[in-house]
Amino acid sequence: MGITNPGPEPATRRLWIETVGCQMNVLDSELVVAALRRQGWEMARTQADADAVFYNTCSVRQHAEDKIYSALGRVRQEKERRPGLIVGVLGCMAQKDQVLVRTRAPWVDLVVGPGQLHQVPRLVDGILAGGGPQIEVSLDRKGGSREAIARSFESYDPDRDPAMRPTPFQAFVRTQTGCDKFCAFCVVPRVRGPEQARPPEAILAETRKLVAEGCREVTLIGQTVNSYRWSDGGVTTRLSDLLGRLDAIDGLDRIKFVTNYPRDMTPDLIAAVRDLPKVSHYLHVPAQHGSDDVLLRMRRGYSIGEYMEMLGRIRTELPHAAVTSDFIVGFCGETDAEFQMTLDLVRTAGFKNSFIFKYSPRPGTKAHERLPDDVPEEVKKERNQALLEAQAEVSLAGNRAFVGTRQQVLVEGLSTRDEKRSVDPGPDGMAQLSGRTACDRIVVFDAPLRLVGRLVDIDITAAAAWSLLGTVADGLADAVPLDELSGGQGSCGTAAGPLYDIASPPSRQTPSGV
Ligand code: SAH
Ligand code: F3S
Repeated sequence: MGITNPGPEPATRRLWIETVGCQMNVLDSELVVAALRRQGWEMARTQADADAVFYNTCSVRQHAEDKIYSALGRVRQEKERRPGLIVGVLGCMAQKDQVLVRTRAPWVDLVVGPGQLHQVPRLVDGILAGGGPQIEVSLDRKGGSREAIARSFESYDPDRDPAMRPTPFQAFVRTQTGCDKFCAFCVVPRVRGPEQARPPEAILAETRKLVAEGCREVTLIGQTVNSYRWSDGGVTTRLSDLLGRLDAIDGLDRIKFVTNYPRDMTPDLIAAVRDLPKVSHYLHVPAQHGSDDVLLRMRRGYSIGEYMEMLGRIRTELPHAAVTSDFIVGFCGETDAEFQMTLDLVRTAGFKNSFIFKYSPRPGTKAHERLPDDVPEEVKKERNQALLEAQAEVSLAGNRAFVGTRQQVLVEGLSTRDEKRSVDPGPDGMAQLSGRTACDRIVVFDAPLRLVGRLVDIDITAAAAWSLLGTVADGLADAVPLDELSGGQGSCGTAAGPLYDIASPPSRQTPSGV
């Protein structure tokens, strides 16, 4: 029998991916990378080392798009030097700008909307086979029947790859795609398509698999996660029902969910958060503004009175819950008096933190079509700053109440300080670590690196606006074998909270406007 020489192995191809935007994008990037890895691709160590450079993009604000066009400008020279380099634009900007991406940056080879990500491996093969640039996007939201549009936005939920997450013990799990709320300022319904729930069985099976692979915490994600509804054979599953079933999964420690829509914060959901031991007492429920008139112009569908009623129900049932919000300053026609109402809301509502954004007009939205963007940039900046300062005071006061308490913390990794120093302390060396409490507060402390991924008790010694400082309780870190340290009950808190900047792991976010 002759032995054939197969010749040299083809060189492994390497991928570099940058991610902007929300948790959906972080998850999508993880899944795209995993799919390409199954086709033999590896992660590049630097962009210069990559055979393909992908940008997973965000269209929520102009600033996020500008960053991508600048990055595309920078990669152009690399592409001129190495014409074989594949440059890809994925996600919301691909859906929104479609052909325009290649008009502005003709060196882009791949344009794929969020509803078509399952096609990336095939499209990449097409480019490698000499098929030229590839564009795949979903139907426009005005481009057909709801069913046809929904079908064209496919939820992308292939097998997970723990190696591809910033922390293997935490994972995002998608509950639904798209949004049907059509707030006047927001491009998400257009670029992410109609709201479509995933079947509960798929969510449960994915979570069980993640837990079997070592995941301790899941964060359910949906644009309006608490609008989740799945009906089958006359039985409706709401988010509260789903949480109940997830809570029963052995080996899972913490469950979080983002982002909530104020009107869908129903009593059954608040009761589920109260009663289910693994569910975080952390609720991100964006108010967006403090004035009824502005909320009306924003088409948010509730008044401040209704928002406060909802908040009151949370405070009664979950007195220690951390509630967080998003706010937009400088929305069309916002007067000083209207802005003052947002300031008053932040001063009185006791949010753990708020993500604050300057209004950015988005083509294709009702506000862009019908309302002038008439608040000067300088005024937007001033209001942004004033609101940040007000929130920082509230956050600091809230955090100070934790000094002297003991908190169960899921250890996430090196603190920002030690990450920046790039010192490798080795698995048993002491480092400055950071993690999150059950109510999503960031805690920084010195401990051995081997505690990463564990639940550890921390005594809180000091507070700043966006983080707490502490020490590992009673020398626990040295005394207790690793596996015993990890058997926590507790509710959750960690990599949730909206992600609004490029390539930053969720745990590194602090509230700020982009
Ligand atoms: N439901 C989504 C919201 C997506 S947009 C979620 O999962 O977070 C995130 C936040 O960006 C919104 O809550 C809003 O505060 C802000 N935002 C949306 N459109 C904006 C715009 N045109 N200008 C400024 N901020 C905007
Ligand atoms: Fe956007 Fe409003 Fe939906 S903010 S994501 S349209 S709930």
